[in-house]
Amino acid sequence: MLKSNERVERIISNMTVEEKAAQMQQVSDTCGKNTIPDKGTIGSYLFTKEENKEKYIGLAKETRHGIQPIFGIDAIHGHACLKGATVFPTQLSLACSFDEELTEEVGAVTAREVRADGHHWVFSPVLCMARDLRWGRVGETFGEDTELVSRLGAAIIRGYQRDGLVAACAKHYIGYGEATGGRDAYDTQITERRAREVLLPAFRAAVNAGCMSVMTAYGSIDATPLTTSHRWMTEILKEELGFDGFVVTDWTNVEFLVNGQHVAENLEEATEMAINAGNDMSMQVEGFYDALVSAVRNGRVSEERLDDAVRRILLVKEKLGLIDENICVPERSVIGCEEHKMLNHRAALESQVLLKNDGALPLRGVEKIAVIGPNADDIKAQYGDWTYFTHPENNPDATPKDDSVTVLSGIRESFAGEVIYAKGVNVTPAENDDELILKALDAARNADVVIAVIGDDTSYNGEWKDRANPTVPGRQAELLKRLSELGKKIITVVVSGRALVLSEVKNYSSAIIQSFSSGDLGGKALAELIFGKENFSARLPISIPTDAACAPTYYNQYDYWHTRGGYIDAKKMIDYPFGFGLSYSDFVYSDVTTDKRCVKIGDKFTLSVDVKNDSDRDGTDVLQLYYRDTVCKILRPVRSLIDFKRVSIKAGESVRVDFTVDSIKLGYLDESCKYRVDAGEIKLFVSGDGTSFKEAIINLTE
Ligand code: BGC
Repeated sequence: MLKSNERVERIISNMTVEEKAAQMQQVSDTCGKNTIPDKGTIGSYLFTKEENKEKYIGLAKETRHGIQPIFGIDAIHGHACLKGATVFPTQLSLACSFDEELTEEVGAVTAREVRADGHHWVFSPVLCMARDLRWGRVGETFGEDTELVSRLGAAIIRGYQRDGLVAACAKHYIGYGEATGGRDAYDTQITERRAREVLLPAFRAAVNAGCMSVMTAYGSIDATPLTTSHRWMTEILKEELGFDGFVVTDWTNVEFLVNGQHVAENLEEATEMAINAGNDMSMQVEGFYDALVSAVRNGRVSEERLDDAVRRILLVKEKLGLIDENICVPERSVIGCEEHKMLNHRAALESQVLLKNDGALPLRGVEKIAVIGPNADDIKAQYGDWTYFTHPENNPDATPKDDSVTVLSGIRESFAGEVIYAKGVNVTPAENDDELILKALDAARNADVVIAVIGDDTSYNGEWKDRANPTVPGRQAELLKRLSELGKKIITVVVSGRALVLSEVKNYSSAIIQSFSSGDLGGKALAELIFGKENFSARLPISIPTDAACAPTYYNQYDYWHTRGGYIDAKKMIDYPFGFGLSYSDFVYSDVTTDKRCVKIGDKFTLSVDVKNDSDRDGTDVLQLYYRDTVCKILRPVRSLIDFKRVSIKAGESVRVDFTVDSIKLGYLDESCKYRVDAGEIKLFVSGDGTSFKEAIINLTE
């Protein structure tokens, strides 16, 4: 039972059906029309324009209950749709840090900037998994692993909500990223087991972190739209997980039931289905209010359900000071301030993954560098989606904010010698490609080394942007080949929204850095890492396949298929696995022990490992602990991440690192989808790169 309070109950008991229905409607301030006669009673706006904020609040204050609208915004990597605010690395980029503390701080800073700008609600984090690279929204996720997504998701939610300034919104519930064929907003064929095992834990972690709202996915599971799924919305999310916030649909989901998914004849029926399933607020559907009022009058939606939805919304509004304005709002001057920039710099440093290095890095002893490639000087590609270039309106010609640093400008700042720049080729093939390639070859001929900055851009990432073949687009690989024929060393930086197949790129590069869109200071961080001022510490949150057709390539699959893990024409399926990343330091593991050999189910045990930094560079390692149930009645993945830790170790020093494991986490869902932990052998694997593992074994006992 939802815990309410006297004031909220008093308000609800005095509200009309119309006032309640209005609370449950969200209207977009960019294009939204609505039929609510008393505009002051509208429950929520998204993308509220600066010039309208005070007006809407004023209208609300004049109504009987004076409940202010909640303003929602897609601030999904910083308050990035506002020019001037801090643009953090995207979720996929931030996930490379495997750093919960950093992620929480990013949330807290974002919340401050969002609230200082008059919004109260961020549509973040995305808790979908990136297990199919074709899906356009891979870059919005924390990657392919349940443990990582759950932990970073909970961390950013804690950050967002820490000071009571904004509500977080865990989205998209559920299965959005699993859609068949990687198709955005399509049906997913996963079973309830898979959804529970792989996807639900992140939402459970979000609920446990106190997340105030959840957004419904567009798609369907096994042909039932999530929007109409009482099972997923009410029984599982609200009753089983105990979610006490409110559920908002995604953009026009209710209408989509009529004109996209064809499960309802008209808006009233769609409204009835969505609200009875457990959605509490509808995003951006013009006639929703009328449909809801009518559905209540016709007895198709009960007043009890209406009250429950409004109660959930009002309880969140109360916490955010939208009923009695008891919140101290940060000054506008916090937006993009120095302190926030410093955190962003750290985030950008921790987000760059070194994939290959034959000794070309750190780059020293050169006088002339050719910086070549379409992403060298493109802040839009470095930003990724959901920024002032892309939302609320597409604005590709916006001028970048002054303090953003592209790779080219970062290199110019950090390097005292000569820098020659050539674009080299377009990301998307264009007529002038031949000419650009020739210019780039000229530039490279005169240089000691080439830094090639390639990748994709926002036209390849985001909603509606699924790709059949997520390779490096256009003629960029050809550019690398032609450059390599000059006999120069090529250091390749891949600035991309999602993971791209790098098989060809690998052949021509002495070093490769994967830089998922890493925000304002990505270029600065990259330069500092390239020249060795800083050390790499990031790891891949997603596997990079040898061939897009090998999908799916997430690491935690089942053991056996007849060819034993490879196609006859693609024996090696993964080039760089989840957890992979190099550093200028060398970490050596030894003496992996557990404090118990037999562990009673329900008890905890500690696994310890010695880690030596066997190099002359101070560095930070990311230790990953995986486990495998060696024999289980239900198929279990080859290994599953159960814990991870960032550990900084001085050059030449050793530390002993402990992982405390709760044996309750070592279970599985049995045939009837009930969670259980069985007695038997469990293998534990410690790794710093997802490719080499040190093992230990424990026995679980009854
Ligand atoms: C996206 C959501 C987003 C919403 C509001 C939808 O199309 O799927 O992630 O929060 O739009 O902008």
